[in-house]
Amino acid sequence: METKAPIYAPGLAGIAAAKTRKSRIDGERGELLVCGYRVEDFAERANFEEIIFLLLHDRRAAPEELAAFIRELTALREAPPEVLALIQAAVRQGAPIIDALRMGSAALSLGQTSSDPFVEARRVIAAYPTLVACASRAARGLAAISPRADLDHAANFLYMLHGDAPSAAHVRALHTYWNTVADHGLNPSTFAARVIASTRSDMISALTGALGALKGPLHGGAPGPALDLVFEIGQAERAEEVIHARLMRGERLMGFGHRLYRVRDPRAEVLARAAEQLYADDAELNALYRLALAVEQTALRLLQAHKPERVLQTNVEFYTALVLHGLGLPSEMFTPVFACGRAAGWAAHALEQRLQRFERSLRPDAIYEGATDLKWAE
Ligand code: ACO
Repeated sequence: METKAPIYAPGLAGIAAAKTRKSRIDGERGELLVCGYRVEDFAERANFEEIIFLLLHDRRAAPEELAAFIRELTALREAPPEVLALIQAAVRQGAPIIDALRMGSAALSLGQTSSDPFVEARRVIAAYPTLVACASRAARGLAAISPRADLDHAANFLYMLHGDAPSAAHVRALHTYWNTVADHGLNPSTFAARVIASTRSDMISALTGALGALKGPLHGGAPGPALDLVFEIGQAERAEEVIHARLMRGERLMGFGHRLYRVRDPRAEVLARAAEQLYADDAELNALYRLALAVEQTALRLLQAHKPERVLQTNVEFYTALVLHGLGLPSEMFTPVFACGRAAGWAAHALEQRLQRFERSLRPDAIYEGATDLKWAE
């Protein structure tokens, strides 16, 4: 009997591999819904804890539920000392912060684990900022700072990084950023988390695998290079020359293009506003914001001329870079801080995949292109 040839879809584009209640992207209209809410409706108003609850439970928390949820998350912020020691050792040996986070994430199995995947989801989401702050401080030769229970998720992270209570503007910007990137359909890292969860593996494995997928420059590794481009250009008048040269060399412009969006990524819109607010009172930062706007306009014009058949618009990474730079974070921190936000989406999808009991494990086909007639000579 002849076997049926599998459908080949490069990049799995157009193939639905899961049913989800978490988020929906409409790339033609530039719309992102998270559990039914438009991203621009909640991102600048909610605290990140509310969006974590929304994603894990598919509904908004009632006020007393939210208070209890925040207490639980807060209690789970501490990471086991062995994990912090591992992260510090990794950074001392020159590991990038994102790799130290990945190692620390896997090592969270050393802590007090639970067989309840919801508890595990909360534990990992709560611990990631602690791990990232520890890695960042180790990179600066500083000891880790313990979390503070009187600060919210964003404020506590900034406190653990810098050692002093952050300004309200910085805390607001970080909540907005994390809300904006918390979930985004079946992107590569979320897909990786679902593949792992589909085998009934554990939450720590699912999120650690997702981290590995996130760090690539075609996914979550782009904001650093996107900001580098703005710095390299330095003055709006040079934008045309520098960008043109890059495109002529066949390079991709980081922060532009998206698999799904054919109009401006709605998250770029939210983060552009957040950056503008964050930069408003600082003349130097404001000048950088204006330069970034000029770079964006030039890049869009040149990309259109370079690839007229393809709609290449600004993606979330471009303005992510500006917001995180405004929070005083170096570019090495951009992807790890992104991971702290996206961890909510990873955990929500992994839980959803696990709870769909009758779903099969995710297992696409491959078309074999190798030899078929070789003989194994003695
Ligand atoms: N700059 C220049 N050319 C580009 C860009 C870009 N940013 N993006 C796509 N193109 C070109 C490609 O070179 C390709 O040209 P070719 O057909 O001559 O080879 C064509 O457009 C189509 O490219 P694909 O990779 O097939 O497009 P896809 O939709 O799969 O890619 C991606 C999306 C990976 C984001 C791509 O646009 C890219 O590499 N952008 C730069 C990296 C980036 O910003 N990544 C962050 C994405 S957002 C996120 O993941 C959180």
